[in-house]
Amino acid sequence: MKFDAMKKLVVLTGAGMSAESGLRTFRDMGGLWEEHDVYEVASPGGWHRDRALVLRFYNERRKQLLETTPNKGHFGLVELEREFEVSIVTQNVDDLHERAGSSCILHLHGELRKSRSTEDPELVYDIEGWKLEEGDLCEKGSQLRPHVVWFGEAVPAIEEAAKIVSAADIFVIIGTSMNVYPAAGLINYVPPTAPIYVIDPNEVAIAGHSRIRVIRKNAGEGVQLLMEEIRNE
Ligand code: OAD
Repeated sequence: MKFDAMKKLVVLTGAGMSAESGLRTFRDMGGLWEEHDVYEVASPGGWHRDRALVLRFYNERRKQLLETTPNKGHFGLVELEREFEVSIVTQNVDDLHERAGSSCILHLHGELRKSRSTEDPELVYDIEGWKLEEGDLCEKGSQLRPHVVWFGEAVPAIEEAAKIVSAADIFVIIGTSMNVYPAAGLINYVPPTAPIYVIDPNEVAIAGHSRIRVIRKNAGEGVQLLMEEIRNE
């Protein structure tokens, strides 16, 4: 019996994916993160100036995440794995795609529930619970930092992400304003034959792509509508 290889569905997600789980988006906060200037709490300069503030800031984010659960949108993407080979490329540092059960996830901007050595970036550890504090050291004795990409830092996973996007049969963008590069530039790797869907309750400015199909809904409802549409692709 000949099995048709499942079509590759590549999904780029952003903060809007987790909005219905109660996590605020960046745009909603207007560049402020819980009253902090993002450059104070999410940049190498901020870490250099006030490490304790940065550790406290991410501890708050991690504590909030532990009280959060995946939403209908996350679970809808898991359901799509029955009919498609789904690869998720996320800008989010939360673990809601993992907790929903998605099998193939690439984090472009790191992972909130992991820490990394300040001496050797290869040394990455899971954070038990929600606290990462001064004096928490890697096996080489250096301070651990949040394993997230700060403003001004490189996005090591971008090459791997571009390769995944280049192989897409269908490309879906959910819950991202497409303002931050290099993540937003991934749309340029989508094969010309692949349809592009955007799921977002607001207008998303994506330059020069005429074949975009817009589902102007929240992630939860939008993924259900997407399912119906792409089953006939
Ligand atoms: P933004 O806050 O820029 O965009 C969130 C998008 O989600 C917006 O387009 C909203 O309209 C949309 N949205 C809001 N509620 C939604 C819902 N319920 N369902 C679906 N969409 C919804 O967040 P990102 O684009 O993810 O970078 O931001 C990208 C990066 O900017 C982040 O990863 C972070 C930040 O600086 C780093 O941390 C390096």
